[in-house]
Formats: sequence, structure tokens, C-alpha cells
Amino acid sequence: MEERSQSQSVSDDDVTRIIIDAKEQAYRETGHEPEPELTKAVDWPITCTVGPGLEGAIACETKIGYVNGSKGWLIYRGYDVFDLCAHSSFEETSYLLLHGHLPAADELSRFRRILLHRLFIPEAQRLLLSFPVETLNPMSALRLGTNLMRQKQTYRDRDEDDDRADALATDEDSIAMETPPAGTRRPVYEFFASLFGKAAAETPTELLHSDELESCYNLIAGVNTIAATIGRARQRRLPIEPLDDLGLAGNYLYMLTGKRPTALEARIMDVCLILHADHGMNASTFAAMVVASTLSDIYLAIGAGISALSGPLHGGANVEVVKMLSEIGSPGKAASWFKSAQKEKRKIMGFGHRVYKAYDPRARVLGPLAELLSKGDPDTENTFATARALEHEVLSTLGEEKKVFPNVDFYSGIVYQSLGIPKDLYTTVFAVSRVSGWCARVIEYLENNRIFRPRALYTGTFDEQYVPISER
Ligand SMILES: CC(C)(COP(=O)(O)OP(=O)(O)OC[C@H]1O[C@@H](n2cnc3c(N)ncnc32)[C@H](O)[C@@H]1OP(=O)(O)O)[C@@H](O)C(=O)NCCC(=O)NCCS
Repeated sequence: MEERSQSQSVSDDDVTRIIIDAKEQAYRETGHEPEPELTKAVDWPITCTVGPGLEGAIACETKIGYVNGSKGWLIYRGYDVFDLCAHSSFEETSYLLLHGHLPAADELSRFRRILLHRLFIPEAQRLLLSFPVETLNPMSALRLGTNLMRQKQTYRDRDEDDDRADALATDEDSIAMETPPAGTRRPVYEFFASLFGKAAAETPTELLHSDELESCYNLIAGVNTIAATIGRARQRRLPIEPLDDLGLAGNYLYMLTGKRPTALEARIMDVCLILHADHGMNASTFAAMVVASTLSDIYLAIGAGISALSGPLHGGANVEVVKMLSEIGSPGKAASWFKSAQKEKRKIMGFGHRVYKAYDPRARVLGPLAELLSKGDPDTENTFATARALEHEVLSTLGEEKKVFPNVDFYSGIVYQSLGIPKDLYTTVFAVSRVSGWCARVIEYLENNRIFRPRALYTGTFDEQYVPISER
């Protein structure tokens, strides 16, 4: 990650100011819009208008989050996401989503400690290193890693009398030792909390109310480590252990790049994780809930969320945005590029949303953060200027008429690029954050579980007569 003089002169307060300004602008521009949907509990069954792809269908009640599509506001457990970005952290936001209230200081510090311990992924994960992770699609690798985590958690991958010494010896065979170690601390990743010394051996249990919550903590920390590990494997580098004085956001950057992030980089990463943590009944959340509703376990449910997130119409859109901006090339070419895209009836990546018919609040924060981070690097400055020019074209053509505005993916790629995250990992970063929302919603749904089972309208034929294959 390059050091940039501009970034160094920017403080935490500047980031907070950007977020507060974004909130004020959002409330000024759309505060007058009517409330779009029901926000009260209902008596089931209910009547609602449903479109293809379940558009408009209400499948359950939730207290976790609310996407106000006409105003362009986003709420987690009653708190505006702008306020959480300005004042909270990803750990605190994850606690809020999972437990339903903001933690007291001691609860937060215990929660942080638990997550830090679980950044040290368990021994089954060592297998990940001997698989061809570096040639797998990153999202497939992440799903694979999540499955391996499940095996450890449910003890299905080993006998009761596990012998750590044997396990480590086997591990040395499976790690590609000829790879030059790139970690700053030690050449072999040990997969247990050696950094924490004696304290690491004590598993804090105060917050572990249930097996499900324990699994959620494993997943929130583990997906982070696995995602960073995949990034390193793709660069033919060995994983490195997390640092105990960094949070999840800072540790993700550290475990990926091998370089301690600046306070500003860690803060911006933290804001990105908060912004992506939950978003209503989107496709990946729904996929995770559908799998969980069969009483399959939460690791497989989160694996389903990861699978759904990987598509270009969902979590993969930010990668497409960066490719599109590089295809456009420069701000001066945005207008002509947009005209031909319109002629070809192409969807512009990073614009439009099924729910938001206003400027996406996450893009309101990520746009200025992308601008802030891009300063001082001519390539990224050009990418950002191209994005702004394209935004101008799209808004003046489709904004008012079709309510098409930038969505979360439009600027997130530029932010990730500036943080030193390779393009092919952007969707995995989305998963590092969304795992909190997936877990919270799955746990909430399971409290009153009913297996998901919508119907399809059969429009095929009837009364066909079976013809033997030799006569067809
Ligand atoms: C997200 C998305 C799938 C939502 O699709 P949707 O709910 O079907 O969109 P809408 O029904 O609101 O679209 C309304 C109109 O705006 C147009 N529109 C929507 N998104 C558009 C885009 N990105 N570029 C150009 N036109 C777009 C639609 O074609 C439609 O036009 P029509 O009325 O002439 O048919 C769609 O906007 C899209 O494909 N965006 C690009 C991919 C992306 O950025 N995904 C990340 C989402 S967070």
C-alpha cells in the first residue's frame, strides 16, 4: 500500500465530518419523501402484491434493519447507519446487529477479545493452504474455507482425542515451505493464539449464550481471516497472524497486505465494513435464511450467502464498476461512452437498486471517501474523476425519470483500490462485512422458524404422452 502525503494529513475527524455532511445532505434532499412501507407488526397471513423474483413479497418480520428506499436512509436496529459510521466501529455494529442493543464498555471489550481470539482460525483451516486456493475463484475459496470452519466447529473433522503435535507435524508437510515467508512475525502461521500468551488459552465465555451465537462469533472473525488468507494465497504468500492491537478492519488489511495500516486506512476500512453489514432481505441474506430454515447449520447457511453474493448483480457489481471505469478511460470520454451504452441498452454497473429510488446512503459516504483516498495518486484520481463524470451523465439522464442513482458498489471499488485491496477480492470484502447481517438475520429467523416454501406458477403443458426413446 502506497503512503500518500494527502492521506497522512487527513485526520479521523475529517472522515467523521464527511459522514455527517453526507447525512445532512441525505436528510435535506429526501426528508420530505413519504414513508414507503409498513413498519409495524402484522397479523399473519397478510396480503401483499408480489412481482417476479418475489419483488414486494413480505416473508417475515424483523427488528434488525430497515432500508428506507424512497428517502435513501438505512437503519440498523433503530440507529441510522450514518451515525454508526460516524461514531461506532464494525465490532460494535456487529454486536448491535446480533444482540439487539449497543454494548456497554465492558461488553464491547469482551466481544472484541472474543473476536480477536477467533481471528486465529482453527486447525482444520490449515487444509486450506494445501488446496489450490490461489487458482480458485476467491468466492469459491471463501465458501470452502467457511465449510472447513464448520467442520472444526462441529468436530466432524477429527477424532475426539485430537493430538495437536501430530496435527502440526502433518501441517508442516502440507504447507509449501519453499514459498519465501512474507509475514513480518514468523514464517509458519500457527493457527492458535500464541500472540495472546496465557490469556489466549482462556476462552471468554461470558457472551456465549448459545451454540448459534458462538458460531456467529467464529464466522464474523473467521470469514475475515479466511478472506485475507485467500488474498495472500493468490499472491503466493503465506498467511500471517493478526495483531492484537488492531480491530477487525485493521487486521483484515494487515493480514492481507502484511503491512500495518495507517489509522486513517483502518478507520476507512471500518466505515466500509459498517456500511455493508446489513441490508434487508437482499439475495444473499435471503439465501442464507432459506438454508437455515431447513435447520441446516449456520456455517452452511453462511456458505449459501457467500454463493449468492458472488454474482455480478449482487456483490460482484463493484468489480464490474472498476472494469467499466477503466474501459471508459478518462472523464472526457464518459459522455460518449454512456451514450453508446444507452443505445445498446446496457445496464450501467453501480447504478440502480431494487429498493432505493433515491441516492443510496452508502454511496453518499463512499463517494467522498473515494475522493479523499484518491488524492495524490494520478491513476486513482483519474478513476475517481471518471466516476464523477459518469455519475453526472447518468443522473442527468436517468436520475429523475427512472430514479436510477449510484448504489453502494459504485464507489466502493475505488476505496478498496486505494486501500491496496486487489480487484479480484472486492466481493470477499463484502462478505467480511455482510457476515454480521447474515448471522443476525438467521438467528432472528430461527427463533420462529418456518421453512421457506414459495410456489412457482406452472405455465407448462399437461397431457403429454410418453414416447419411447427409439421413436423420438
Ligand atoms: C440492481 C438492479 C438489478 C435493480 O434492477 P431492477 O429492480 O429491475 O431495476 P428497476 O426496475 O428499478 O429499473 C427501472 C428502470 O431503470 C432502468 N435501470 C435500472 N438500473 C439501471 C442501470 N444500472 N443502468 C441503466 N438503466 C437502469 C431499468 O432498465 C428500468 O428501465 P425501464 O423502465 O425502461 O425498463 C439493476 O439496477 C442493475 O442491474 N444495476 C446494475 C448492477 C448493480 O449495480 N448491482 C448492484 C446492486 S446493489
